[in-house]
This record gives sequence, structure tokens and C-alpha cells, in this order.
Amino acid sequence: MDLGLAGKTVAIMGSTGGIGTALVNLLAQERARLVLIGGQSERLKSLAARPTSAGILVDAVTGDFRRDSDRRACTSALLDLAQLDGFVFLPAELRTDTFPDARPSEIRETFDVNLFAAIELAQAALSRASSTASFVFASSVDAHRHPRHTSSASYDSSKRALESVAESIAVEAGSRGIRSNCIIPGLIRTPMTEDLFSTQFQLERDQFLASVPLGRAGTATEVATLIVFLLSPASSYLTGACIPVDGGFLSQGL
Ligand SMILES: NC(=O)c1ccc[n+]([C@@H]2O[C@H](COP(=O)([O-])OP(=O)(O)OC[C@H]3O[C@@H](n4cnc5c(N)ncnc54)[C@H](OP(=O)(O)O)[C@@H]3O)[C@@H](O)[C@H]2O)c1
Repeated sequence: MDLGLAGKTVAIMGSTGGIGTALVNLLAQERARLVLIGGQSERLKSLAARPTSAGILVDAVTGDFRRDSDRRACTSALLDLAQLDGFVFLPAELRTDTFPDARPSEIRETFDVNLFAAIELAQAALSRASSTASFVFASSVDAHRHPRHTSSASYDSSKRALESVAESIAVEAGSRGIRSNCIIPGLIRTPMTEDLFSTQFQLERDQFLASVPLGRAGTATEVATLIVFLLSPASSYLTGACIPVDGGFLSQGL
């Protein structure tokens, strides 16, 4: 099936993570043109050191979204583009902080990465968005149902706010033909959750998976496949939605 993404320019933030890497692979198969923004991995650094290419990889820019100056540099990279057909925001900082104990500086840092970077970069992307552009943001089931064994108050609240950002873009840019949606992953095996898959956390993992109707964790490719669908014209009447990809976890209510 031709998903209609060949030659489309898609900016991906968080391209080096588990879900981001799976997404890059799927979009490369579709021959989309990729702009990789933000992150500190060695692979991204080596891609960023290369001259801009006319092939599938258009540009790569490193940046730590906790820093104002890096967010500005990444915003400038988006403003340098002539046109953007897709925008995917995946980066996240996950701290295990309880609400009473969380330090304001750490809450601010989490919000800088998870929310303010998304807002600043999406604003720049909107000014370059084509008339069929699609925006996709990554929330988390934790924004809706807090796991009992951990606490991540700043992460959870930043994700809930991000869902609202995705909905605002859908409402305010819909008249231009632009779509905006949010995905809500459940437990997905990636570098972010690797600890949970060690024997040390087997009890916590089993407790969580007992609440997942499909009874297993998801894969990064299962999430990336949903993002590709949301970017493609196949989802042309889908906007303003927050879509769980969680094995049915949230379907059991709050
Ligand atoms: N995995 C799950 O179970 C799960 C569940 C619910 C929601 N999600 C959400 O899905 C998204 C992707 O998750 P994932 O599992 O793929 O995460 P991951 O493997 O940990 O990847 C995180 C990505 O974010 C980037 N990043 C982190 N801090 C950054 C910073 N300060 N500045 C710029 N970039 C930064 C990382 O870049 P570098 O490493 O290159 O610096 C990396 O590309 C996240 O928003 C996460 O909250 C995941």
C-alpha cells in the first residue's frame, strides 16, 4: 500500500530513541525526506556533522531541549525549511518524583523538554506547514492513570498539557487543512523503559501487565506504525484526537 509519504518532508524530534528509531526506519522505507531535530546521541552528532543532503535525510541538528539556546537553534533549523509536511514530537524527560518532593528546578527542566520545546518547535513548524501537514505528539498513559508503584508527577502533568497543545493546534490550524493528533503509548520496550524489563522489576512489570488486556508490552514499531498512519493521507479526516496505543490498558477506565 502506497502511504503517500514519498518526497514529503517530516521533522522528527526524539529520532534517536526507541520509538524514534523505529519511526525513522519506517519513514525511510516510505522514502519521506527526514529532518532530525534535537538529542545528544553520537549517531545524531555524526549525522549533524555531514553537509545537508538532497536524499532521504535532509538535515540533522543536535540539541538539548533543557537549554534555551539549544531550543532556539533547533527552532531556527525548522524555520530554514521551505515547507514541512509532518512534525513528530517524541522527546521526554522522565523523573521519578513525588509531587511533594519534586524540586522546582527539576519540574521546570521536565517541562522545558516535554512541553515548552514542543510548543516552541511546533510554532515554528506551523509557519512552514503545508496545507496537508500533520502534527503528532507523544503523551503517555501515565498522564491518565498513575501507576501505584512509581510516581512521576512532573512527567505526567507535562504530558497531559501536551495533549491539550495537540488539540489546540487541531482547532486553530484546521481551517488551513493542518491536522494535529496525540498518541498515548502504554508500556513499550525502549531505552526509556529498559530498567522495567530487568529481573529486579519483574514484580512491578507483571503487576502492570496484569492490567493490560493484551497481556504484554508493545514494541516501538507498533507505536511508530500508528505515527506513520497519522502522518499519511490515509488519516486525512482524523484530527484533534488522543489515541491510546497501549494494549487496551486505558480502556478499563480510570
Ligand atoms: N517507552 C514507553 O513505554 C513509553 C510509554 C509512554 C509514553 N512514551 C513516550 O513516547 C516518547 C518516546 O519514548 P521512547 O520510549 O522512544 O524514549 P527513549 O527511547 O528514551 O528516547 C527519548 C528520545 O528523546 C530524546 N531526548 C531526551 N531528552 C532530551 C533532551 N533534553 N533534549 C532533546 N532530546 C531529548 C532522546 O535523544 P538522545 O538520547 O539522542 O539525547 C531520544 O531521542 C516519549 O515522549 C515518551 O514519553 C513512551
